[in-house]
Amino acid sequence: MNHFTCVQDIGDLQSALQKAKYIKENPFADQHLGKNKTLMLIFFNSSLRTRLSTQKAGMNLGMNVIVLDINQGAWKLETGRGVVMDGDKPEHILEAIPVMGSYCDVIGVRSFAQFENKADDYNEVILNQFIQYSGKPVFSMEAATRHPLQSFADLITIEEYKKTARPKVVLTWAPHPKALPQAVPNSFAEWMNATDYEFVITHPEGYELDKKFVGKAIVEYDKEKAYRNADFIYAKNWSAYRDPNYGKVLNMDKSWTVDTRKMALTDNAFFMHCLPVRRNMIVTDEVIESPQSIVIPEAANRVVSAQTVLKEILLEL
Ligand code: CP
Repeated sequence: MNHFTCVQDIGDLQSALQKAKYIKENPFADQHLGKNKTLMLIFFNSSLRTRLSTQKAGMNLGMNVIVLDINQGAWKLETGRGVVMDGDKPEHILEAIPVMGSYCDVIGVRSFAQFENKADDYNEVILNQFIQYSGKPVFSMEAATRHPLQSFADLITIEEYKKTARPKVVLTWAPHPKALPQAVPNSFAEWMNATDYEFVITHPEGYELDKKFVGKAIVEYDKEKAYRNADFIYAKNWSAYRDPNYGKVLNMDKSWTVDTRKMALTDNAFFMHCLPVRRNMIVTDEVIESPQSIVIPEAANRVVSAQTVLKEILLEL
């Protein structure tokens, strides 16, 4: 593997799951692979899980790890070409990227959608500049349109907890006070569509995702119908994708909060969320604290997904 930005980059999904299982059972078996190799993690946006789990994955593989928060301590970066740099950004990303590349062997990048220009977001301008100009393998730690390390961890978790070969997995929109990117639901849909699960997406009118990511999923606007007989409820907020409302919060309808009433419609479904989660907006205290909530093992599997991807990258160096 050279770069990792989407489900296609992982190759055969069953093989990837087998590799992940081996890594989970043998976390320190590949320390020789990372010896004298440097992992650089670059954050344009905040993080708890991705920051810690990817560092841990690198350390498990014997790598040295450098973490840089672009907005805290680094020079502010200009990203547009042709800009007269007479403002508050003293460095251009086109110099910064190859410099960062010269200090490491593998680069992870977190760069969210900025909601200023939909085309820039959906063309993954920042992530692709790292791929083009760093000269090093690049992996996404959540970009504008996808969060593949999260989705891989979600898939690993579903495989661990599923009670039937072909579970019903429901991605449900839930309310949130701020505009959030579509990266997690896009990516989750992309990975679920790569399985043979029964996959349903439910959301209020106006929150339709890009058709490219919805793929073969069933879109069900009636949330009660969607929840019925579900094996997994995966909750997430996202802002509107469609124009002219791209990046906007259209409503905060609390009837979409995941609660015990709707969970009772399921087949004793497990509750999942990528975290961080706003309690009693996205999900009630009762549901997230219930035995059916698997958000903690889901987050723990972020080390496994990151280590599986990093190992594949190291094998190609
Ligand atoms: N799920 C996830 O990516 O969490 P962080 O934003 O804390 O990294």
